[in-house]
Amino acid sequence: MYRADAPGRVNLIGEHTDYNEGLVLPTATPQRTVVELSPREDRVVRVESEGYMPIAYRLGEERHCGDWGDYVRGVTWVLAKAGHPIRGFDAGIASRVPPGAGLSSSAALEVALLRALRDAFSLTLDDMALAYAAHKAERDVVGARVGTMDQLAAALARTGEALLIDMRKTKIERVPIPADVDIAVIDSGIAHDNAKQGAYNERRAQCEEAARRLGVASLRDATLSDVERLVPQSATLARRVRHVVTENERVRAFVAALQADDHARCGALIDASHASLREDFDVSIEELDVLADSLRSQRGVYGARLVGAGFGGSVLALVDADRAADAARAAAERYRSRTGRTGRVLMPV
Ligand code: GLA
Repeated sequence: MYRADAPGRVNLIGEHTDYNEGLVLPTATPQRTVVELSPREDRVVRVESEGYMPIAYRLGEERHCGDWGDYVRGVTWVLAKAGHPIRGFDAGIASRVPPGAGLSSSAALEVALLRALRDAFSLTLDDMALAYAAHKAERDVVGARVGTMDQLAAALARTGEALLIDMRKTKIERVPIPADVDIAVIDSGIAHDNAKQGAYNERRAQCEEAARRLGVASLRDATLSDVERLVPQSATLARRVRHVVTENERVRAFVAALQADDHARCGALIDASHASLREDFDVSIEELDVLADSLRSQRGVYGARLVGAGFGGSVLALVDADRAADAARAAAERYRSRTGRTGRVLMPV
């Protein structure tokens, strides 16, 4: 029996920048997904996951089915395509990373499964290669045109530090999170599912279209004067570009502020990221705005914003470590009284 795991991710700042060759700053969630796997002599794959219908198929017969099993089928398909020899297996998945909360339970599952398969079949894959394999599985079999942030974070991030990833060069720097602040995360209760969200793919297509019109390789090369140039052609595309350009700047400024222990500045940047995602990138919804406000109104909170793709999922806040649990609980209560929805505190655990 082989056992492996991987965490979910919380992106501190740098949203919708990864597929524009920009900057992101994810950290690992304390919750992890665990895979237990026994190799078989034949080519049959059977996988169970608590609370879901078990799946079974033969290697070589992977196809998109539109269920959670696509993550598993995607992983075995991608390994075969890359020439990694595996046989069938029986596996059980225990996910502590809540699905639909915007913490990338899918990347945690893909990376944990790849690690278990690497051990079971002695595959030559380092964690970086494993992240790219997971990404390809999600893109080609699950059908979500996601960037690579989530898989890189699930494969490489640790709690207590953030990964500053420059997606253009895949350059990764570890940035410690000061011990006197904590990340609070509350799930809005509105499920986010990348594969079902045509809106995510649409945002991505808009960014590509804007880059094409500006004559740049990606929006990483765009500037605020490009935003002005685009306004007469398309106000919508101009706003998308403005988000990406300013968000990359915020990631840089955030890292500098974190290293200078300037928590107030970090919080202001987090708030500004939320405003930009809401007004320029149009990926917030009323519940996420209310939840972010509910967090901001708590003592000890420096700033709050939606985390992940948006349209649902969770909100994070940067908060004094000794206030984190109380602030999150009180904010969830305020959210409930304002929306009638139950916000689930996911961090601190
Ligand atoms: C989802 C995708 C990531 C990234 C974020 C938005 O989580 O999987 O690649 O694009 O949305 O920052």
